[in-house]
Amino acid sequence: MASASPASPEPPGADTNARPATEPPAEPPAEAPAGAPTEPGTLVRLDGTVLDRSRPALCADDLGVLRGDGVFEALLVTDGRPVLLREHLDRLARSAAALGLRPPEPSAWERCLAAAIARHGGGDAYARLVLTRGRESGGPATGYALVDPLPATTLRARADGIRVLTLTRGTVTLPPGRAPWLLHGAKSLSYAVNMAAQRWARAHDAEDVIFLAEDGMVLEGPTSAVLLARGDRLLSPPPELGILPSIALGALFAEAAERGRHCAYARLTAEDLHGGDGLWLVSSVRLAARVRALDGADLPPGPHHDAVAALLHAACRNPAADRPHRP
Ligand SMILES: Cc1ncc(COP(=O)(O)O)c(C=O)c1O
Repeated sequence: MASASPASPEPPGADTNARPATEPPAEPPAEAPAGAPTEPGTLVRLDGTVLDRSRPALCADDLGVLRGDGVFEALLVTDGRPVLLREHLDRLARSAAALGLRPPEPSAWERCLAAAIARHGGGDAYARLVLTRGRESGGPATGYALVDPLPATTLRARADGIRVLTLTRGTVTLPPGRAPWLLHGAKSLSYAVNMAAQRWARAHDAEDVIFLAEDGMVLEGPTSAVLLARGDRLLSPPPELGILPSIALGALFAEAAERGRHCAYARLTAEDLHGGDGLWLVSSVRLAARVRALDGADLPPGPHHDAVAALLHAACRNPAADRPHRP
């Protein structure tokens, strides 16, 4: 594989986000004319250029495409404002560092995301920040923000809950730091396995998945953290198991703790999930989706569902800036 150049944000004014600044454009840039519709969502490069979502924006040899070699964040926008943005930018920087990518300045992401949200037209939305290693032939990193309407499946999962299967991830749990190349805890672009697991669920009368390690420990969903109520306690598998530290779950735990509720990271088995008092998949965009059936067995709502939804709603309230920083 060609060695990629050190990652850095593309210089302001570069013609495309994925081409060395000195190279002439191979085709006209896909920049959106002022006022042009950008359905179905908006796309803004890290240098602030607004692009037309209906036109190609990446080079075919972008390492994000060829290798899944990059990182991303997915976050909620409410009333036109990104929720828990600082936490997402911190995690993006940690993920980038894990891949040896130099993260762009947070202010560059803030400007680019603000432009994408403004163009989207305010309200609630689904935002993604993407950073790849750039082209295989070298040059700057590729960075952009996408903003889309909240998917109907997301809204349905919040309202109606989801049916979930437990599936093995085929992994064993390693001590933290033992194998940094596995990128545990980094939100990399390599989600093909996670998407395959969700397709498997859909083909087997379910909507989502909870991954188990080979020793039976509960890990996480393909795009979510697992939250279990047991009595009055709210429990979730610890990040030391090599899972992604969930920002929504961290915010929910902080909010719950402020209100005197007991919450903790704890090792859980599939049996624990069946025997609890409520089970949810939690993530920044979908928020809390109640698991209403697990491996084909119905799970009753339990007494905590409204409280969990309210805690998450409060944890994700805007303005995010007035909230204490959470690592
Ligand atoms: C693998 C994985 N775990 C957990 C989560 C939940 O993380 P967050 O609450 O930061 O959205 C996600 C979110 O997409 C994820 O992809």
